[in-house]
Amino acid sequence: MKIGVVGLGYVGSVTVAVLAEAGNEIIAVDVDRDKIESLSRGEPPIYEPGLKEALTRNRENIHFSSSFEQLRGSAACFLCVPTPNRGGKIDLSYVVSASESVSSVDANTVIVIKSTVLPGTASMVRERAGMRVVSNPEFTREGSAVEDTRHPDRIVVGSAGAPEAQLVENIWKFTGSPVLRTNNENAELIKYASNAFLSIKISFINEISNLCERIPGGDVEVVAKGMGMDRRIAPYFLKAGIGYGGSCFPKDTEALLSFAQEKGDPLKIVEASRMVNEGRISRFLDMVKRAEPPSNATDISVLGVAFKDSTDDIRESQAAKLVRALIPLYRSVYFYDPVVKTFEGATRCGSLEECIQQSRTVVIATEWPEFGRLSTMGFTGNVIDGRRILSPDISEKFYAVGLNHA
Ligand SMILES: NC(=O)c1ccc[n+]([C@@H]2O[C@H](COP(=O)([O-])OP(=O)(O)OC[C@H]3O[C@@H](n4cnc5c(N)ncnc54)[C@H](O)[C@@H]3O)[C@@H](O)[C@H]2O)c1
Repeated sequence: MKIGVVGLGYVGSVTVAVLAEAGNEIIAVDVDRDKIESLSRGEPPIYEPGLKEALTRNRENIHFSSSFEQLRGSAACFLCVPTPNRGGKIDLSYVVSASESVSSVDANTVIVIKSTVLPGTASMVRERAGMRVVSNPEFTREGSAVEDTRHPDRIVVGSAGAPEAQLVENIWKFTGSPVLRTNNENAELIKYASNAFLSIKISFINEISNLCERIPGGDVEVVAKGMGMDRRIAPYFLKAGIGYGGSCFPKDTEALLSFAQEKGDPLKIVEASRMVNEGRISRFLDMVKRAEPPSNATDISVLGVAFKDSTDDIRESQAAKLVRALIPLYRSVYFYDPVVKTFEGATRCGSLEECIQQSRTVVIATEWPEFGRLSTMGFTGNVIDGRRILSPDISEKFYAVGLNHA
């Protein structure tokens, strides 16, 4: 099938690779010409495990272009363009502009919205562009996006018409994943409700971790493990730390809150979860300052600046916020991240070994598995674990989120 993908960032480039691998002919379009050039050379502009290999393996099925004209004759066209917030509200201008560009080329193409959009957006696009519009929200996680797209937990297909829903269902059939068919509005809300729920789970365990710090012998890792053994609760997203970040949870919860407010039914739990998250960095910073009092004669080393492991994405990264907060407090901030190469105001080290040699205090800010090696490296300084990846017995000077230090 000839399929278009518009917007080749984290979501779009993975969608291209996986749909090409499934045997489709993919027309991959972006307005950013540099991105098209680098993708055409086989260089994805982002780091995502397995992406480069999948694009290379399937390059015969992919045509990269900055011209929407190439999309003519596509059965479906996936929109993977940004949906940022402006002034706390979702900005749909990229979705509107991309859908109008597609409709001006071929009004028979089915528009499939992968971008995260609020309920009512697909209907609005359908009316403006005069096309059939399917909502097919994306649930992949950066860091495992290729695998997640090949084998999603579920595929949500929202539409007003059965033929276009069937078309999208057929496109994803190769995944073997369960499909939920519904209307556009429910599909749109499922995405926001899912992200909001996951963010609440994180903030919940982070509040419990605050409590653990106050209780002699308290350790949130043990509490979370005990909770997660209950199948009704499940262990996922019960990991205490310095808070959630990235390009989705902060943006999507903010957009959902203002949407719900406008509808007259504010989401109090989501609001509370955002407030909890906003307090994470200052609380963790206090822990760092207690262990290593700020001084312009002291250096500090930070492990990780990406918003999570296995990605180079630092959008709304809590680790990046932490580094920014540390820079004015210490003489030098050294950092090591396996894939993020630069950070303004901080000095990058080429390896974990090099980074821990710079300072007597090491802060773990991103949960890269590689940082687990710290426990076998004989480091004798302060270790402050913001992601709970190390065992508390690593050293006497070990401090961590959710661990009582009395
Ligand atoms: N990043 C994620 O993990 C993730 C997961 C699920 C859903 N989403 C949602 O998917 C959407 C895309 O997110 P992303 O992280 O891939 O964004 P991104 O910023 O990485 O990529 C978006 C791409 O769209 C291109 N673009 C912008 N306007 C365009 C236009 N009119 N025509 C063609 N291309 C255009 C940009 O040049 C860019 O390459 C957002 O709505 C986001 O909320 C993202």
